[in-house]
Amino acid sequence: MVRKVYLDHSATTPVHPRVAAVVNRYMLADFGNASSIHDFGRAAERALKWSRERVAELVGASEPGEIVFTSGGTEANNLAIKGAAAAHRVRGDHIITSAVEHHAVLHTCEALEKDGFRVTRVGVDEFGRVDPDEVRDAINDDTILVTIMLANNEMGTLQPVAEIAKAARERDVLVHTDAVQAVPQMPVDVGELGVDMLSLSGHKMYGPKGVGALYVRKGTRIRPQEHGGHHERGRRAGTENIPGIAGLGEAAALTMEDLPQREKHLSRLQKRLIDGLVQLDGVHLNGHRTERLPNNVSVSISAIEGESILLSLNAKGIAASSGSACTSGALEPSHVLLAMGMSHEMAHGSVRMTLGRDNSQEDVDYVLETVPPIIDRLREMSPFDVQ
Ligand SMILES: Cc1ncc(COP(=O)(O)O)c(C=O)c1O
Repeated sequence: MVRKVYLDHSATTPVHPRVAAVVNRYMLADFGNASSIHDFGRAAERALKWSRERVAELVGASEPGEIVFTSGGTEANNLAIKGAAAAHRVRGDHIITSAVEHHAVLHTCEALEKDGFRVTRVGVDEFGRVDPDEVRDAINDDTILVTIMLANNEMGTLQPVAEIAKAARERDVLVHTDAVQAVPQMPVDVGELGVDMLSLSGHKMYGPKGVGALYVRKGTRIRPQEHGGHHERGRRAGTENIPGIAGLGEAAALTMEDLPQREKHLSRLQKRLIDGLVQLDGVHLNGHRTERLPNNVSVSISAIEGESILLSLNAKGIAASSGSACTSGALEPSHVLLAMGMSHEMAHGSVRMTLGRDNSQEDVDYVLETVPPIIDRLREMSPFDVQ
């Protein structure tokens, strides 16, 4: 039987059995509507409260009321950016973001541009890092929001969000960070970061798909993007997804329990995998060597098409991706790698392997045994020279 090695945890993670049990309970037994006053409703309401407390604790919020549950990271980003833009339009019409954001941020900013907002996209260096001074210089009297991600989903580079937030707050500008990839892998504290809003997602942290949260610092005004009932204190209408939210709460509890071991375990596997891959001819690490998520291994393999190596890896039971989950399958190379100054050819040869808590050293060693013959075979057919 072919060994199965899942190395695509930045696309999604398996739901942890503990989380699945909680989701199951709130689908089958405690299925009530959290707004109902009977016992079924109250059980759901308790789950909502408990989960809000766990998520608040996970990101260091000062009170649970600062957490707004959403349908995932995409909606959290939309609510933060469109909600802040609408609420603060009288003050200004300028938003700052980076060239390497997830499409949930980039396309939201593009939509706002069509509505008359002005957007500055700061660039990144060869490692994918934003320069906080460039953000500081881009702030003007019309700037209302800076939205820069904490960790990149493609090459794992961490952004200096605390420094960026300091510069923004000096000018009274709101700061949002997309922490969807960071929260499951490293300690994240909204106080230390100094951000006003932060997005996270359930399915990147061993929780269910279709649920996430936006942290909104107390006193921060955002305009709701869904209208209906007074759910989530009027910030997000719609009957709460209690099974999903309870699962997210359990995933947050699990993350708080095992984050120190998780980080250590992932870093060890990451080092082994990076060291093994970059010693191969024409294989280059993408992103920053140290300022990166502990589970991300993104490499460019010269003279090879990323998609063809993915298919060959898949045939050997190894699940990886090229570019981000959302861009793979598209012919355009990743906007993130191009923003880092990489050539189209090298960007096309990029492969992302993202480790998870259940991966082992044997998994990494299997990958390191499997990759070299695949590269050799694909290069024999390639018209390009190895760089
Ligand atoms: C950095 C980042 N932001 C946002 C999202 C979107 O989250 P969701 O899939 O929960 O909508 C993703 C998912 O790929 C992501 O990696």
